[in-house]
Amino acid sequence: MKRLRTNVSSLRGSIEVPGDKSISHRAVMFGAIANGTTTIANFLAGEDCLSTIDCFRKLGVSITQNGSEVVVKGKGMEGLQEPMEILNVGNSGTTTRLLLGILAGCSFHACLIGDESIAKRPMGRVTKPLQQMGAKIDGREHGNYTPLSIRGGSLQAIDYRSPVASAQVKSAILLAGMQADGTTSVTEPHKSRDHTERMLKLFGAEVVVDGLTVSVTGKQALTGTHVDVPGDISSAAFFLVAGAIVPNSEITLKNVGLNPTRTGIIDVLKQMGADITIENIQNEESEPMGDITVRTSELNGIEIGGELIPRLIDEIPIIALLATQAEGTTVIKDASELKVKETNRIDTVVSELKKLGADIEATEDGMIIRGKTKLKANNLMVDSYGDHRIGMMLAVAACITEGGLTLNRPEAIAVSYPSFFAHLQQLIK
Ligand code: S3P
Repeated sequence: MKRLRTNVSSLRGSIEVPGDKSISHRAVMFGAIANGTTTIANFLAGEDCLSTIDCFRKLGVSITQNGSEVVVKGKGMEGLQEPMEILNVGNSGTTTRLLLGILAGCSFHACLIGDESIAKRPMGRVTKPLQQMGAKIDGREHGNYTPLSIRGGSLQAIDYRSPVASAQVKSAILLAGMQADGTTSVTEPHKSRDHTERMLKLFGAEVVVDGLTVSVTGKQALTGTHVDVPGDISSAAFFLVAGAIVPNSEITLKNVGLNPTRTGIIDVLKQMGADITIENIQNEESEPMGDITVRTSELNGIEIGGELIPRLIDEIPIIALLATQAEGTTVIKDASELKVKETNRIDTVVSELKKLGADIEATEDGMIIRGKTKLKANNLMVDSYGDHRIGMMLAVAACITEGGLTLNRPEAIAVSYPSFFAHLQQLIK
């Protein structure tokens, strides 16, 4: 349990958020199946990405990690070894789903387990198409939940139409497609984050993007390279919102990833009236990044749905808090994917913000928030439910809450942002 800082009078200063989680996972995975050495700078040494390193070490890959510096000695597409131990994915959906895509093409047996939250997350969305390609996968409820076992082998390419816009599904199938005979394509209902496509190109693969369809031809080799991981916009989002809603604030976040498939949070902040500026944009070809400054702002409610949702899916908990401080109504719709994240984030966001007096209601595919509300706590306890993003949202909510507030299960935050509380403390003036 952790006592949270409440009623903060100002947040000021500049911080560099840790490396992007999605990109850090992929850099290790692609490095492992590439030929030659991959070096990674600004790797996120959070628990999720450490689970990825642990799994690939058990698959025989030599990986040295020294804080945010990582060196991966690639084994090539066919060089992974049958693991002697169960692969533990911890709390990480990205590790589970992308790893299944890689293992689908490996002619050996492996078992995957994770924590209590992973055990509730649907894996059929990747195990079914991978089975169609030829992988043998079984597990609880016919391979829909962990524990899972997989025996990969020779794969046939597929043209897969995904019912959900999910980068994890798209990436798992493309990684299997890289090992299949023929050309594999994945078509999504809306565009999800495209880090896999960009990074495959960085490792020398040919990837064809045509609107919402991405294709790869199998049996292409990857070549080890250097990956510079930008700061994680999903971590920056907590301070972008904090800067907009805490009085007398001005925060600069340096070297934040600005990949257009991830910047929905910036579009929302601007549409709601936030005072936000972006400078020093670099690296536009691979993964763009820049410095973002946000200041305390007068905000208005908006409607958020459709193609914007995959561009900000992980930011919805903190956007819900933002909406409690906006005049008028904010409607979040088309976001039923929230129900299958680390927690059911429609339920956990609504329940915890209600405890603080927010006017918020759950809907079938999102939530409705009416603002502006002064948040209050009278020595209350709120809960992360073991979900890192719920924990960080509540710590930011505390900054604008009157009264005493305690957070249950704060340790969940280490999954993606181990230095979160130190950074918050540094900004409080
Ligand atoms: C991720 C994709 C998203 C996101 C998750 C990371 C990725 O999940 O919520 O935090 O790295 O590909 P879905 O692909 O399930 O939408």
